[in-house]
Amino acid sequence: MRILQGMIALALCVPLLAREPVRARQAMVVAQEPLATDVGVRILKSGGNAIDAAVSVAFALAVTHPQAGNIGGGGFMLIRMADGRSTFLDFRERAPGKATRTMYQDAKGNVTKASVEGWTSSGVPGTVRGLEYAHSKFGSRKWAELVTPAVELARTGFEVSYGLAESIKGSPKLPLSAESKRIFIGAAPGDTLKQPELAAVLTRIGRDGAKDFYEGETARLLSAAMAANGGLITVDDLKSYAVIERKPLTGTYKGYGILTAPPPSSGGVGLLQMLGMLNGSSYEKAGAGSAESIHFVAETMRRFFADRSKFLGDPDFSKLRLDDLLAPAYVRQRALSIDPSRATSSATLQPGLPEPERGGQTTHFNIVDAAGNAVAVTYTLNDRYGNGITVPGLGFLLNDEMDDFTAKPGSPNAFGLIQGDVNAIEPGKRPLSSMTPTIITRDGQFFMALGAPGGARIITSVLQVFLNVVDFKMNLQDAVDAPRFHHQWQPDVLSLERGISPDTAILLRVRGHKLNDSPGVVPAQVNAIVRDGSWLQGASDDRAGGKAAGY
Ligand code: GLY
Repeated sequence: MRILQGMIALALCVPLLAREPVRARQAMVVAQEPLATDVGVRILKSGGNAIDAAVSVAFALAVTHPQAGNIGGGGFMLIRMADGRSTFLDFRERAPGKATRTMYQDAKGNVTKASVEGWTSSGVPGTVRGLEYAHSKFGSRKWAELVTPAVELARTGFEVSYGLAESIKGSPKLPLSAESKRIFIGAAPGDTLKQPELAAVLTRIGRDGAKDFYEGETARLLSAAMAANGGLITVDDLKSYAVIERKPLTGTYKGYGILTAPPPSSGGVGLLQMLGMLNGSSYEKAGAGSAESIHFVAETMRRFFADRSKFLGDPDFSKLRLDDLLAPAYVRQRALSIDPSRATSSATLQPGLPEPERGGQTTHFNIVDAAGNAVAVTYTLNDRYGNGITVPGLGFLLNDEMDDFTAKPGSPNAFGLIQGDVNAIEPGKRPLSSMTPTIITRDGQFFMALGAPGGARIITSVLQVFLNVVDFKMNLQDAVDAPRFHHQWQPDVLSLERGISPDTAILLRVRGHKLNDSPGVVPAQVNAIVRDGSWLQGASDDRAGGKAAGY
């Protein structure tokens, strides 16, 4: 029997992974940390809707997943209600009023580490206002009820997992902050991690709403700590922080409707451009994991990231050429420049639109409720544990999101991304992101929600999981588990995850790809939900140890 299965898998060129997703009839939560997933399921079971559950999961992750769950960072929430309404909430961090274009360059013009280390690396956090905004427009339960589970987790503590303990041990930044050291360093698997200062902040947020964080006691303490430590965020920066409601980017692929992240994320543009180049190419006929299909998809990645480097940034500060970047004729012309048998050299491939007009660690979760409302949230501190600084007395970690701006055109950021003037630092501006919360529809109904942490690799990982489901007919867990690859134009390297066969790697080298030689490159960790007839499939990415649960 096993031999026969192996033969069938080979014939279909589909890796025989065979892990089942979690299945549920009514509702599903998939998040990167199990206790937070459980909080979401409890809120849904007690009658909350998907937005209520998203608020609770986000606050819970700020306690149980300090690597990226946060109140000191920012992110995006994509919402699609069962009646078809959709919106995109942008609660991305903003550059403080005192930020300057060259603030991360020394006197000689060299890029310093200050965009990822120390108090000046933080943008003005947006998470708390973003969650409050989502709740006020779409929530159904009382705000305080939704914050309470996080307060309890912070106050009474939770059991430190092996993964969290290892992650804390491996963090180069946490030991640099006395407060982070006191709270996190030395936490061992099985210990109870209590965060009383964070519990106090969350209690105030539960009582007073976002006002506490932006105008109240927390704002006062945060801005005082910034001033005392040379940081830039002031009382005014906090008070003036605003959530922006944007229209999701939309597109189609083989009959599926796509709702995805608009700028200041580059993710949605990337997803739609790459799908546009793949559509009609028949790349999938070569089979999942084949050198031929990997080559073609990698070439679409290379072309998108070249465009990203030049054309994308905060739409409120520059006129972006989205219509040009997504025009079918332009995308087709980019696809036609792909040689099916030979890698294009990134040195010769330039961003594709003509002159003159003139992109860690994050976390993603999805929720679908019994009514069919769907939420996809990606939020972040940028690097794992952000800049590593816990604000004394407040118990939360600060982001280092300023590194997503262009510190200097041509110099790579922490994700190796080369970025341009359009993403230069300006006061009040939002840095270009790769976060790609995405919801897919089929025949006007919810079909799939997905997203991931992982910087530039988010966009390419979301693409591959979607293709695995739609083009390679994998069940959702197999689609998430299948080994992935990544190309971002510069550096001109194709990264293959462990699990892609050495023979395939040789065939890709023969096509001219420069492969990443460090084994086991970890791609972004995708969490996803799919509707499968009358069932929901949920899959968390075991690369990150999350949990899918439903009922
Ligand atoms: N901080 C990673 C991103 O937004 O892409």
